[in-house]
Amino acid sequence: MSVIVSDVNEVINQLNQGNVIALPTETVYGLAADATNHDAVAKIYKIKNRPLNHPLIMHVAPEWDLTQWVETIPEYALQLIKTLWPGPLTLIFKLKKEANISRLITANQDTIAIRAPAHQKALEVLTKLGKPIVAPSANPFGKISPTSAQHVLQDFPLESFVILDGGKCEVGIESTIISCLDARHCSILRHGIINQSHIQNYCDILDSASLTETIKVSGNLKSHYQPHKPLFYFEKLDFAKINQKAIDLEKSYIISFAQSIEGLLAEKLNYTFPECQERAAHEFYQQLRIADQTNKEVILIELPPKTPEWAALLDRIQKAGQIL
Ligand code: TXA
Ligand code: MG
Repeated sequence: MSVIVSDVNEVINQLNQGNVIALPTETVYGLAADATNHDAVAKIYKIKNRPLNHPLIMHVAPEWDLTQWVETIPEYALQLIKTLWPGPLTLIFKLKKEANISRLITANQDTIAIRAPAHQKALEVLTKLGKPIVAPSANPFGKISPTSAQHVLQDFPLESFVILDGGKCEVGIESTIISCLDARHCSILRHGIINQSHIQNYCDILDSASLTETIKVSGNLKSHYQPHKPLFYFEKLDFAKINQKAIDLEKSYIISFAQSIEGLLAEKLNYTFPECQERAAHEFYQQLRIADQTNKEVILIELPPKTPEWAALLDRIQKAGQIL
């Protein structure tokens, strides 16, 4: 059984001993290990049941010199770092050959994903440890990400590691991932709360469709972020399809965006996300967990608007289930 602690020093000891811990970030909780310790990094893949070809994000303090790990940093990436770090933004760079980190992190690719988290406790851990850590979301591979220490505890009932408590995650969904491999253009590999409109202030964005075939990112997987119950998403609730799939509305947990559902269904609505995209993201995983824990059999969820600001939630919902 894992334990929840509030003292940063307890997790520092664990990390120095090569153990895995869980820690809060502003996005979601991460399962963390010393990035320079190969055996410790291997434990993360095992605990998460994560395929070894699915690389991890390395976390650093914002002021650390990235040239110890990274070959070149384009000018626009320096600007992004200066303005948006620490924060929910992961950048992908060409890995330096002599970088002192376990190659398990990059899944043997020649690129590395790096971010500086904006959570006071995560930053304290990094500064006190004085070394980078890897931190994938602290959930079994493919499942719903955790936004509280309790979620982590519930998700790994058979494991025993120390969980650093940092309250409920402010952002609530994983960081935006941007490829900075091109000197002049970037591309968005995973959508997040930092969206297209923020990034295009610093560089032109290329369509990532051509890239994702060769790069292993969660945006590349067809399914991810999945609850235990079957989840169906819809643009407009179609009763013919509900009947066709033999779904009983009485046994369905129905979630909408911005009160757009009317009539009979409005009465059956179980939850409506806030209209503000940031507040909806903050609630997102927590609400999926609540839906998963009810005695309903199926989750029905409306898709958010198809605009760039909603891309992060749209993508996560589409990977969490199937179309109605
Ligand atoms: O907000 C976050 O980023 C959270 C918190 C804990 O920091 N972490 C997180 O890690 O979401 P994870 O492992 O759940 O997702 C990392 C994603 C994966 O989809 C992985 O494929 C991608 O980052 N990734 C890692 N290294 C990469 C690389 N070199 N090239 C492309 N994608 C990479
Ligand atoms: Mg994840």
